[in-house]
Amino acid sequence: MIKVAPSILSADYVNLQRDIEMVEKGGAEYLHIDVMDGTFVPSISYGPGFVKAIRKVSNLFLDVHLMVEKPGHMIQEFADAGADLIGIHVEATQHIHGDIQTINNTGVKSEVVINPGTPVSAILPVLHMVDQVLVMTVNPGFGGQKFLPETVAKIAELNRLKSENGYTYDIEIDGGVNADTVVACYEAGATVAVAGSYVFNDVDPVAKINTLKDATK
Ligand code: DX5
Ligand code: ZN
Repeated sequence: MIKVAPSILSADYVNLQRDIEMVEKGGAEYLHIDVMDGTFVPSISYGPGFVKAIRKVSNLFLDVHLMVEKPGHMIQEFADAGADLIGIHVEATQHIHGDIQTINNTGVKSEVVINPGTPVSAILPVLHMVDQVLVMTVNPGFGGQKFLPETVAKIAELNRLKSENGYTYDIEIDGGVNADTVVACYEAGATVAVAGSYVFNDVDPVAKINTLKDATK
């Protein structure tokens, strides 16, 4: 059964605590927080102060996805804010190895992220040192986009590398996830599914979390 990480990008910001408590009680394992800088991706979302505020009201595992240029400068601040995991894009840094080391040194779990246009070969040098790999299943920047099926082969490749080398990373998917698209990803080896609009653009987000879990039993 896949672990579910609701993305609060699609939550009701005015009633955010209510939405967070609802998914926490509803069986979500992670809370996915999308940080966007207006440069790596066009939108601007939120920063470390927001993570700190959520930390005060939730015990959920805070899965912080940094869609920012030069993420190395911000790692300590997000770790201090209470992130449980920090994910950085290989496309956003010239120092992926050093930046993953920086995350690991903070004691927070580390994640490397690849866009749909980036091959798995780009992250081979850091696979031994990350806790999670995020395969973007849409191009980053917005919620509510359509799942890209060509990304599934990369999940399978990462799963093969994991068993061949004895790596222990989780494989997360992000973008266009619903009860249909999650199945092929789970079968290919995905262990964590981010879901934003599928969960929160519904009158019953908890039912949607359960549907994702039921589809991957
Ligand atoms: C997109 C973000 C996602 C987004 C997913 O750039 O990284 O986490 O919230 O939204 P859905 O699930 O609606 O595709
Ligand atoms: Zn995300």
